[in-house]
Amino acid sequence: MPDKYDRLDKVIKVYGRRPGQLIRILHQAQGLFGYLSPEALAYLAAKLNIPLAEIAGVVSFYSLFTTEPGGKYTISVCLGTACYVRGSQEIFQVFKEELGLDDDDTTSDGLFTLRSTRCMGACGLAPVVAVNDDIHGQVKPGDVDNILTQYRAKESADDREYERPGACPAAAPPPH
Ligand code: FES
Repeated sequence: MPDKYDRLDKVIKVYGRRPGQLIRILHQAQGLFGYLSPEALAYLAAKLNIPLAEIAGVVSFYSLFTTEPGGKYTISVCLGTACYVRGSQEIFQVFKEELGLDDDDTTSDGLFTLRSTRCMGACGLAPVVAVNDDIHGQVKPGDVDNILTQYRAKESADDREYERPGACPAAAPPPH
């Protein structure tokens, strides 16, 4: 399987060094690594021949970028205007209470990170909650429990798949 940096090289090849592509490349890099580490940013600066300070400035300007490693599922609650007027602050509050987290915190089991964000460009679906790349639209405070249950169930299904005998070569019984 190609190394993540190999895949990042391919992304750079696709978008090239054309001006205006930096945000797309950063978005793809975050998708690959889960966050934008100092190493990844330095790598991009060298590859794209853009000063590191300039890249870091772009990353800190846009709230969709994060430089901190997060949980397996990052829950982003949009607090942009369209979502806010439709009650996203209350939804955010319910997530905080259900998970026992503050903004930008991660659960101790590493499963969920909770983040408030600015407009995600899906205002027509307001109020919007994204869980990694899944967009949940017209969310109500009463939906929070369902959303969490959905990802917890997904996680247990993944665990069961991993524990199934033969699913992992290391778990296979020795040959007779
Ligand atoms: S304000 Fe929430 S998606 Fe635009």
